[in-house]
Amino acid sequence: MARALRLAARSLGCTWPNPGVGCVIVRDGQLLAEARHERCGDLHAETAALARCAQARAATVYVTLAPCTRPGRQPPCVDALIRAGVARVVAAIADPMQDDPGPRLAAAGIAYEVGCLEALARHVHGGFLARVTRGRPRVTGKWARSADGCLSAGPGQRTAISCPLAYALMRRRRRAFDAILVGAGTALVDDPWLTAPRPRWHGEVPGPLRLVVSRHARAALRNAAAPWLAIHAPGAGSGLAVADPHDPAQVLHALGAYGINELLVEGGATVHRAWLPFYDRIELYVGPEALGQGLAAPPDPQPPLWQLEQPPRIVGRTLVARWTRRG
Ligand SMILES: NC(=O)c1ccc[n+]([C@@H]2O[C@H](COP(=O)([O-])OP(=O)(O)OC[C@H]3O[C@@H](n4cnc5c(N)ncnc54)[C@H](OP(=O)(O)O)[C@@H]3O)[C@@H](O)[C@H]2O)c1
Repeated sequence: MARALRLAARSLGCTWPNPGVGCVIVRDGQLLAEARHERCGDLHAETAALARCAQARAATVYVTLAPCTRPGRQPPCVDALIRAGVARVVAAIADPMQDDPGPRLAAAGIAYEVGCLEALARHVHGGFLARVTRGRPRVTGKWARSADGCLSAGPGQRTAISCPLAYALMRRRRRAFDAILVGAGTALVDDPWLTAPRPRWHGEVPGPLRLVVSRHARAALRNAAAPWLAIHAPGAGSGLAVADPHDPAQVLHALGAYGINELLVEGGATVHRAWLPFYDRIELYVGPEALGQGLAAPPDPQPPLWQLEQPPRIVGRTLVARWTRRG
C-alpha cells in the first residue's frame, strides 16, 4: 500500500476533479503490475494496472481509494476486478462518493478489506476528501517572509525573499496543486508566473490553474504560459463569478463546485489576512535577510492550533516549514 500511495502522490495536481489514485497488484509476494490514475478521463488506477497485468487471477490488489461502483467517465472498477478474477482487494480508505464495493466483491468470492495505511491515505487524498465531504478544496496558504517578518519591502513593491534554491523548491511544490490563487494586488505588482516545472510523468497534463481574485476584475496575469481565470463579482467579467469575491468561504464553495481539490493561496498581504482562518495547511519560507521596514507578513503558525508536518528544513539560505491545522 505504501507503494500505491507513492504513486497516488505523484498524481496530485493532475487529475482534478478526480482523486489521483494509485494501485499495485501482487501475487505470491511478486509485483505483477502497478499504475496510477494519470488524468481525468483516463483509465482509473485499477483498470490501468489490470491492463498491464498479463494474468491477475488469484492476485491481491492494493488500491489507495476503494474501487468505484458506479459508471462515470469510466466503467466501474469493481466490475473489472471481478472479471479479472482477483482473490483479494485491499483499499486504504473508503470513497465517500461511491457505494461500498464489499457486497459485490463478496458475491463474486473476492475478499475485501478497507483501512490499510489509512492516516497516510487521508493525507494524500485530503484534497479530494475535503471537496466531496465539505464542498471545498483543501487549502494551503504559502508565503515567504524576511528574517524580520516582511512579505515585501513595502506595499506595491516586488521583493525577492527566498534564496534561489528555496525558490526552485517552491516552484516544484506547485505541481501538487490543482489551482493557485493570488489577489489583485499581487497580480498587479508582481505579475507572477505562478507556473511549475512539469515533470516527465505529468505528460500532457497542464500546470495548476492560476486564479486572480478581484471584485471588479481589475487585474490580469500577462504570462500566457498556463491557463488562468479571474474570480470576480457577477457581471464584472468572463471568469468565475462569486457574489462576494472578498469572502473566502464563497470563493472556496465556487472552487469546490468547479472541481478543484487542492488549492494553494500565494497571497499577498490582504488576501492572507482574509484567508488565514480557512487554511488547512501553511507553507512558510523564511529568507535570510532583514528588510527593516516593510509589508508585514501574517503571524507565523504556532502550536497548539498548528502542528509541524515535519521538522523545518534549511534549503540553501532559507528555512522551510510546513504546518497542518490541528483537529
Ligand atoms: N512574500 C510573499 O510570499 C508574497 C506573496 C505574494 C505577494 N507578496 C507581496 O504582497 C504585496 C501585495 O499584497 P496586497 O495586500 O497589496 O495585495 P493582495 O493581497 O495580493 O491583493 C489584494 C487585493 O485583492 C482583492 N482581494 C481578493 N480577495 C480579497 C479579500 N478576501 N479581501 C480583500 N481584498 C481581496 C482586492 O482587490 P479588488 O478590490 O480588486 O477586489 C484587494 O485590493 C506585494 O508587495 C507583493 O510583492 C508577497
